[in-house]
Amino acid sequence: MGIIQVDNLKKGFITKKGPLFRRKKEVVTAVDGISFSIAQGEIFSLLGPNGAGKTTTIKILATLLIPDSGKALVKGFDVARDDLEVRKIMTAVLPGERTLFWKLTVKENLLYFGSLYGLTRRYVKGKIDGLLQFFGLDDKRDILVEKLSTGERQKVVLSRALLPDPEVILLDEPTLGLDPVAAIALRKLIKQIADRGKTILLTTHYMYEADELSDSVAIINNGKIACLDTPHKLKQSLVARKIIRISVDAWDNSLSYHFTDRFHAQSIDTKQRDDKVLVQIKCRHNDFSIKEITDFLNGYGVNATNLSFDEPSLEDVFIEMTGSAISEKERANGAQVLV
Ligand SMILES: Nc1ncnc2c1ncn2[C@@H]1O[C@H](COP(=O)(O)OP(=O)(O)OP(=O)(O)O)[C@@H](O)[C@H]1O
Ligand SMILES: [Mg+2]
Repeated sequence: MGIIQVDNLKKGFITKKGPLFRRKKEVVTAVDGISFSIAQGEIFSLLGPNGAGKTTTIKILATLLIPDSGKALVKGFDVARDDLEVRKIMTAVLPGERTLFWKLTVKENLLYFGSLYGLTRRYVKGKIDGLLQFFGLDDKRDILVEKLSTGERQKVVLSRALLPDPEVILLDEPTLGLDPVAAIALRKLIKQIADRGKTILLTTHYMYEADELSDSVAIINNGKIACLDTPHKLKQSLVARKIIRISVDAWDNSLSYHFTDRFHAQSIDTKQRDDKVLVQIKCRHNDFSIKEITDFLNGYGVNATNLSFDEPSLEDVFIEMTGSAISEKERANGAQVLV
């Protein structure tokens, strides 16, 4: 049995919709019967489009929301009934929270939150050095949090979450808003935290982040789990085995037809970019070479440049499972780019 055991969890919210004074109550089902299990020491990622139910799931596990039905157990303790026990085992970092006092220094924040966790001042003082060293924040201990960069602040938030030495850490979008270098550093630290035996449940919109970090990934859509497996198996499960990207002068439907016939294409998407057409082809097989493709295209008088082969990525799995692509904003933050 996993350290986290979630069984048929459901949670809905009552909201009001419609024009002022004629608003009607409506139930929004945020989490719709999800089940999963996380083994000790595992990094488990929840992926899904906006509104899929990721944060709601995290909040239920963090004992901040009570589920309508189903069960969530942390080390055998029921999050709805044994919240005090669960909080001793687990800490959560939620995004956008004012989780730190900006007018206090890093050290003062950690001392304050340590006391909120019920830890002795002596224990916290002993722990601070190690944590600040681990996060590379030694020289920031006496700096006001308001003077820190977003990445440094996020490291303080993580230090805070690690103060009580929890067995499980819930991280909701931990690298949100960080520049690529800070995000890489934070991912490395998350990996190191897991290497110390901690169990981590995280949510992210960055597919490569989930791919790089996770032992298991669950993609949720409309409150339900669409798929759950290791990143490798999820990618292998796709019908498309190979993705070809080509830049050509022109492409038409008849070429798509012949290409599909010859190379078992699952889908062909084209996009005009300046004076070139960028073609992305997903193939069901991967038993052909670049030369076979260029020879084939040359036979139709098409000169292909920038031809590349890719294996399906977690983003491809995400799109297949949820029917939605990663948003432009997320791409700008470094998500893998589809042609
Ligand atoms: N307190 C609330 N009251 C009403 N509806 C809510 C509340 N919290 C969440 N919801 C709704 O529940 C659904 C799931 O929200 P949730 O925050 O869990 O999504 P998410 O997967 O974390 O999305 P995102 O990627 O945008 O963070 C959404 O439709 C949301 O509008
Ligand atoms: Mg969320």
